[in-house]
Amino acid sequence: MSRPEPVVTVALDPDWAAGALVADVRRGLGSQPRTLPPKWLYDDAGSDLFDRITRLPEYYPTECERAILREHADDIVSACDATTVVELGSGTSDKTRTLLDAFAAAGSLERFVPVDVSEQTLRDAAAMLSERYLAVRVEALVGDFTLHLGHLPRGGRRLVAFLGGTIGNFYVEERAAFLGALHDSLEPGDWFLLGTDLVKSTDRLIAAYDDAEGVTAAFVTNALHVLNRELGADFDVEAFSYVPFWDPRQERMDLRLRADMPHRVTIPGADLVVDLAHGEEIRVEISTKFRPERLRDELAAAGFEAERTWTDPADEFALTLARRLP
Ligand code: SAH
Ligand code: AVI
Repeated sequence: MSRPEPVVTVALDPDWAAGALVADVRRGLGSQPRTLPPKWLYDDAGSDLFDRITRLPEYYPTECERAILREHADDIVSACDATTVVELGSGTSDKTRTLLDAFAAAGSLERFVPVDVSEQTLRDAAAMLSERYLAVRVEALVGDFTLHLGHLPRGGRRLVAFLGGTIGNFYVEERAAFLGALHDSLEPGDWFLLGTDLVKSTDRLIAAYDDAEGVTAAFVTNALHVLNRELGADFDVEAFSYVPFWDPRQERMDLRLRADMPHRVTIPGADLVVDLAHGEEIRVEISTKFRPERLRDELAAAGFEAERTWTDPADEFALTLARRLP
């Protein structure tokens, strides 16, 4: 029998990275406070570093979400009538296999659609999944979940999974825009399975984002390597310190890079020169933590009704199954 091949559709145009990166760098580094969007963290090196993060002893979200999926995958399958599972920001789809195994065992899964900007990671995952689930069509989409929800395949009942707490990497207004766009791209009755990290002790959070091995620092610092490579920037990467902190007002981790000396950076690809003062910071990522009641309200405001919420035994992470309202 021939090897099953996944279908891979590329929604990102070939110049997308260059064009969108330039716009983001001009907007984010050209004004105060200085910021960069986290999607640029996931080149091949960044995707590998994130994969290492998920295996660090301090980084609890992955294992908490895996525990919920192990315990409740069958409940998810019996609660919803999906025949297509879409996964946004799927990465390696490692944990997702627990969910897909349950769908496959019930014989109800026809199609799996992983969506990610990181093309090679997605292609590798799609190849692995199409060998594992011979009766399931794997239709991967290389795309940006802030731009390409309109490319999601139609037909059949859909479940869109957004796992790992990745929704926490949006700013609050981006989150509302994303939920609105997701609502618009789904049909009434379609399902949304959302993983969210929950508010917890500051010590636990700081440990998870400032691990002893320095893998998270390397992941965040990778943003500068991406700009040096893609836009010919001359960031002296060694001249920055990683500064993670908990923002109690916004209830989010704030992950920054601080210039340890005055630093003029030339970014030819963006036609930009940035003068960073000693101690000046660039915010590279936020990671918002949630409270279940507020999350249900936010989902309702976007037109989703939260039907079930499961947490791990220590209530560190939540998985919410919501339905798209008419
Ligand atoms: N879902 C996995 C991976 C989370 S890491 C887990 O739970 O472990 C976040 C993933 O989202 C990465 O694979 C990254 O490449 C992808 N990603 C980040 N921004 C994205 C965007 N705007 N559109 C599509 N994928 C994105
Ligand atoms: C992908 N995302 C949910 C991770 C998080 O925890 O916010 C990214 C990450 N950044 C640093 N460590 C992990």
